[in-house]
Amino acid sequence: MVRVRPSSPFRPSFGSNPPLVTGREAVLDDIAEALDAGPGASGRAALITGNRGIGKTVVLNEAEVLARQRGWLVLSETATVGLIERITTDGLPELAGVIRQAPSTRTRVRGISLPAGLGGVELDLPDERGPGGLRRQLNALTDLLDQHGTGIMITLDEVHSRAARDDVAQLAATVQHAFREDRPVAFAAAGLPAAVQDLLTADVSTFLRRARRFVLEPLSPVAAEEALRVPVRAAGREVADAEVTTMAAATFGYPYLVQVIGDRAWRQDPDASTITAEHVARGIADAVREAGFALHEPAVNDLSETDRAFLMAMAPDDGDSAISDVARRMDRDHGYVSRYRSRLIVAGIVEPTRRGYLRFTLPYLREFLRSLPDYEAE
Ligand SMILES: Nc1ncnc2c1ncn2[C@@H]1O[C@H](COP(=O)(O)OP(=O)(O)OP(=O)(O)O)[C@@H](O)[C@H]1O
Ligand SMILES: [Mg+2]
Repeated sequence: MVRVRPSSPFRPSFGSNPPLVTGREAVLDDIAEALDAGPGASGRAALITGNRGIGKTVVLNEAEVLARQRGWLVLSETATVGLIERITTDGLPELAGVIRQAPSTRTRVRGISLPAGLGGVELDLPDERGPGGLRRQLNALTDLLDQHGTGIMITLDEVHSRAARDDVAQLAATVQHAFREDRPVAFAAAGLPAAVQDLLTADVSTFLRRARRFVLEPLSPVAAEEALRVPVRAAGREVADAEVTTMAAATFGYPYLVQVIGDRAWRQDPDASTITAEHVARGIADAVREAGFALHEPAVNDLSETDRAFLMAMAPDDGDSAISDVARRMDRDHGYVSRYRSRLIVAGIVEPTRRGYLRFTLPYLREFLRSLPDYEAE
């Protein structure tokens, strides 16, 4: 008998849905409640922030699922150049098309279940570009959706993008207007903490500033263990609880690391019926190397020279770093170093521990920095 080699259930790449989403009940429950509560519920505008790889895009994906389950239409966007143009020429017209083509009885079309009576309805959207067109198209759609007890959810990933800032502001203003008119619209946006902070202080939108804020934290040990154990066993292999605990501890609750560690442990010997302690040990080592390329390198490349030098000056410490040591290693005074300290805290790369001390927020960042050619040990 030929045994089919089971493939890894894990999804170690950004933006792809994991086999099991754990630990995000609070934010998702809030969004679900807001959808059910009606216009005016605060969770109808959600702003999700968190460090790289913490699972922001996955939360947006899950929010879309919640909306679809309720018969809502979903407009899924990323803040890049041409956002408004895309929405008015493709996004909203396509949603109108979904309604036109849907059968008139309640049924599922392309993963969307529309309320009975809504499908097949003639709906012509104003063929107009720009912010004015966006508002009129959204009005036409929501007038109709409202009559059928449903609405439209708009998700916006990478909301902090500088290149699309004007478009983001226009979209936010349009959604705000729809809220004021009690239209059935829900909005969820996601971005990196520092950049979102920047966006909010740049006075781009009072609407975004008032949105319900959700800061995604690392998963609890129990949630990380579940995210590892359940997919392995569901995919037909065994793994002992001790191994699950070891893997979960090595993730530090980082969803991205959950996926890479699970994946690399799985791949050590996919034909073996059990993931062993040895697979786990080798898998963790592989995964940490992989995280260097996929997680740490991009994070560090986004920083200014001095921010990077600051991190390099923390790297020699095995535990928390004293600010005074960082200043000494950088050969700078305390005031200078403090400014960069605050920036890196806002960026979510380091966090204060006790007074005068910092530590790295991203797991394995220290090890990554130590592996760089310009690293100087003390
Ligand atoms: N709650 C979760 N449980 C298990 N795995 C998760 C969870 N959330 C995200 N993941 C996994 O973690 C990885 C990163 O998720 P995601 O792309 O959503 O992060 P992100 O915060 O959007 O990252 P970025 O800042 O780069 O956009 C993906 O591999 C995803 O499958
Ligand atoms: Mg993302």
